[in-house]
Amino acid sequence: MAERVEESAPGRVNLIGEHTDYNEGFVLPMGLPLRTTVAIERRNSGDVEIESDARGHASYRLGEEQRTGEWVDYVAGTTWLLRERGTTLGPMRVRVTTEVPLGSGLSSSASLLVAFLRALRRAFELSLDDLTIARLAQEVENRFVGARVGIMDPMAVSLAAPGSALFIDTRSLTFERIAIPDTMAFVVIDSGVAHRLSGGGYNQRRAECEEAARLLGVASLRDVAADASLDAVPEVLRRRVRHVVSENARVLEAREAIQQADAPRLGQLFSLSHASLRDDYEVSVPEVDRLVELAEAEPEIHGARITGGGFGGAIVAVSRPESGDVGARIAARYERETQRHADVLLPPARG
Ligand code: GLA
Repeated sequence: MAERVEESAPGRVNLIGEHTDYNEGFVLPMGLPLRTTVAIERRNSGDVEIESDARGHASYRLGEEQRTGEWVDYVAGTTWLLRERGTTLGPMRVRVTTEVPLGSGLSSSASLLVAFLRALRRAFELSLDDLTIARLAQEVENRFVGARVGIMDPMAVSLAAPGSALFIDTRSLTFERIAIPDTMAFVVIDSGVAHRLSGGGYNQRRAECEEAARLLGVASLRDVAADASLDAVPEVLRRRVRHVVSENARVLEAREAIQQADAPRLGQLFSLSHASLRDDYEVSVPEVDRLVELAEAEPEIHGARITGGGFGGAIVAVSRPESGDVGARIAARYERETQRHADVLLPPARG
């Protein structure tokens, strides 16, 4: 029996394909060099004791997991779900250290869940493959934490490989690793406006998509053709549909642009995606719009967009590979204008 095991999982940035995963569409995320690490030490008796560098201390008794609305729900929800599936676990000390910033739209939660599940797999010798781990992570968020998130983040985090993005068809859950050519680089900057998925906006968008699909008589918005008549749908929902349908098409084009090493084309797709998320899907905020504008004003940047669930968080931009400290320049301008701190998360700061 392993005494102390340690596992980690990356954060992710979604290159394109936003708010498409819960509509059974396409997404194209990429793993980040920033990771969450979870160490587990099994004990003979007692509680589950958790120590997290970013979130503090918590504990609970196995079998008595209760939703609290706090971060500990990610850990408690995981043991709750595994036990519900008939897995035998035991008391343990859990130590979490994270480099993935919380609330930036870079999947700090999926990263924690996948790292914890990987550590549990080793500590308790569970037979779980990486796709199953992703599905369990999603189920914890949906059923225990109370955020109706899609499958993109846990799959991105569980299946990411360095140097490539992950194209996922979220209907069939088939995926393909797409190598990032040397002629492209990505810049990720956090706006300093924290986003929260368990807040109302995300679940409301989901409900709007479900309502639109019902009115259009399709199983999900994935099935709406680009030229379909949207007359049956009220104006606001029509804009939501327009975003999802056009975003799915952009993901397929973006995959091609990466395969053809066409960075300017990818940049245009990023800009179109941002406009659609801002105007049709209404998940951006003024600070993030400004950050995108400042990024796009730089000659090294081909295009930029909000990334992740929205309502704050980070932007992702595609740049020339030799773009030096363009991220720092954008962040400095943004800080002067908005008095908010912007963090350049990719490329990672040089030691
Ligand atoms: C969050 C969710 C994902 C996805 C994105 C929006 O990150 O966890 O499932 O819906 O928002 O693209």
